[in-house]
Amino acid sequence: MTKPIYILNGPNLNLLGQREPEVYGHLTLDDIQQRCAAKAKDLGFEIEFRQSNHEGVLIDWLHDANVNASAVVINPGAYTHTSVALHDAVRAIEPPVIEVHLSQTAAREDFRHHSYIAAAAKGTISGFGLASYLLGIEAAVQSLNT
Ligand code: DQA
Repeated sequence: MTKPIYILNGPNLNLLGQREPEVYGHLTLDDIQQRCAAKAKDLGFEIEFRQSNHEGVLIDWLHDANVNASAVVINPGAYTHTSVALHDAVRAIEPPVIEVHLSQTAAREDFRHHSYIAAAAKGTISGFGLASYLLGIEAAVQSLNT
């Protein structure tokens, strides 16, 4: 049986819809989950969609993905800019990992310009809102097929 694509979400993303809508839009994380499930289904995959505010939990889920996922799409939230431990976890696992962001982090505050994840991920998609996730799923499937 084909393993699911893990879609992992970091801190504060549970507040989407009410959190800075001018930056992150009006969709909730549940809306994003539903759209991701539909997109993945079109491409022949199930998803495992999770969110945590805790760095160690995200690391545990990356280790879990190493065994149980085909690929990973991750929005690490602010841990993008701080976490060597997440960088190491992404490097440590076999499935392709695609980093996604709703906002265009390069066009925001200086502290968002550096990503610890980018150097370990297969690629990064940033700035397209919901479409960043959907493109991330496409990129994940494409990297499985090449
Ligand atoms: C984010 C960008 C990060 O800088 C920020 O800390 C987030 C969300 C995004 O999806 O645009 O929490 O990852």
